[in-house]
Formats: sequence, structure tokens, C-alpha cells
Amino acid sequence: MTLQKHIKKTIVLYVIKREIFYEDDLGPYVFADILDFKCLQEVVVTYRIDWLVHFSALLSAIGEQNVPLAIRVNIEGLHNVMELSKQYGLRLFVPSTIGAFGPDSPRNPTPNITIQRPRTIYGVSKVRCLRFPGVISSDTQPGGGTTDYAVQIFHDAIAGNEFECYLEPDTRLPMMYIDDCLRSLWEMLTTPEELLKRRTYNVTAMSFTPKELVEEVKKHVPTLTVSYEPDSRQNIGMHFYLSLRKI
Ligand SMILES: NC(=O)c1ccc[n+]([C@@H]2O[C@H](COP(=O)([O-])OP(=O)(O)OC[C@H]3O[C@@H](n4cnc5c(N)ncnc54)[C@H](O)[C@@H]3O)[C@@H](O)[C@H]2O)c1
Repeated sequence: MTLQKHIKKTIVLYVIKREIFYEDDLGPYVFADILDFKCLQEVVVTYRIDWLVHFSALLSAIGEQNVPLAIRVNIEGLHNVMELSKQYGLRLFVPSTIGAFGPDSPRNPTPNITIQRPRTIYGVSKVRCLRFPGVISSDTQPGGGTTDYAVQIFHDAIAGNEFECYLEPDTRLPMMYIDDCLRSLWEMLTTPEELLKRRTYNVTAMSFTPKELVEEVKKHVPTLTVSYEPDSRQNIGMHFYLSLRKI
């Protein structure tokens, strides 16, 4: 992980399920439900935590399937880590998303501070902090986000499966490679407070459509077969079509 290259201290990964397996020397894994405040306090005290990078969330498509749970995990969970950070003087990072914008947000480019009005509970819970586009990583399986097709295609290509795309071929969405994502996270965390103009920035890298990605992947795996079966994520993705400024 890019972060590990920079951090000399122990990283404690708090998880509710251990569905990802990094190298064991990365640091201890601790079971912690983001909704269990006492448990979070114990983790902070036991491991003498001073920075908290809060990734737990239900992503856009999964959140729409279970809105009450998304409200709890994404909003109550966020309030828990904010309260925890206040109590223990932690430096807190919470990633946001292009899903925090809605159909009324200006495009090309979308300013850092602008009208948002997101249409999903995921977007509502992510109005603040660094807004990342879809993140492309081989570390984890797709987690129920609208941009996850851009991760799934690589798994399907390598496994020899047909790639079923849930978006229309010309849906252009902003994306970013995981190393660039972690670099921006690191730069945000280590920038002296007096140099930050605000707490919320848009992060940008590239944008492409499913059709363009398929063409690129086929150059490496010509046998890849593709079908397009747009589902409810197409409606979410339409509002993600934004061009973000570089920070
Ligand atoms: N993947 C992307 O393209 C992308 C883009 C922008 C922002 N982000 C943000 O990055 C973060 C991580 O996204 P991801 O793609 O790794 O998603 P993911 O679904 O893979 O990971 C979310 C994690 O939250 C955990 N979780 C769920 N409920 C929990 C609970 N009650 N207590 C503790 N943990 C719980 C899940 O077990 C899972 O490991 C999210 O906050 C997301 O908003 C992701």
C-alpha cells in the first residue's frame, strides 16, 4: 500500500469483516463496528491511535438497497468517528465521492464549492472532505459502487468470464488509480493546516466510458466478451458525470 511507504508507525485496520487480506506485516486487524462507540474508544486507547482514516461506508448502489442501514453506517458512523476524533485529538480523514453531487451541480468543471443536492443516501452522507472519483484497485473486490464496473472488467477478463456491464456503453465517469488516490489522501493529511484553504476538495485524474475501457482491455485480452445490461446504477451514474478540477 502506498500509505505504508510513508507511515513509520503501526497501522491498525479496523474492520467489521476481514474480506481483504493484506500482508500480515502491515499491522494488526481489529474487529470494530463503526456503530459501537465504546469499542472504537477501546481501539484508540489500546493502540494509541493519533490518525484515523475512516473508510467504512455502504457505497451508492448497496446504500440504495438498504437506506436505513446506510443512514446508520454512513451518517451515524461518521458522527462516531468525528466525536472520537474530538475526544482524543485525532487527525481524521474521511473520503468523499463524486456521488456527493446531483443533477443540479454544474459540470465541466464542477467547482469545489457549489450546489450539491445528491440523489442517493450515499451522496447525502458524503458531502464533505476529498471527493474521489471511481477508484480502480486490484486490492479488493468491487464493493457496490456505481463505478465498480471499471474494476469488475479486469477480474472478468483475467478469469475468462463474460463481462456484463450495468451501465450504458457511453456513460462517461471520472476515475482514478488507487496509487493516485492514496497519494492525494497522504498529501491532504500532511499539508500544514494553515496552507489548507478549505476541508473539501475535488480530486481528479481521468474519465472514460465503458466502451472505451472495453476497447483498451480487449487489446490485452482479445477473447473478452461483453454485454450491456443497464440497471438502476445507470440512473445513479448519470448524475456522476462530472468533470472535476485538479487540486
Ligand atoms: N471505491 C471507490 O471508487 C470510491 C470512490 C470514492 C470514495 N470512496 C470511499 O472510499 C471508502 C472505501 O470504499 P471501498 O470502495 O473500499 O468500499 P468497500 O465497500 O469495499 O469498503 C467499505 C468497508 O466498510 C466496511 N463496513 C461496513 N459496515 C461497517 C460497520 N458497521 N463497521 C465497520 N466497517 C463497516 C465494510 O466491511 C467494507 O470493508 C468509502 O468511504 C467510499 O465512500 C470509494
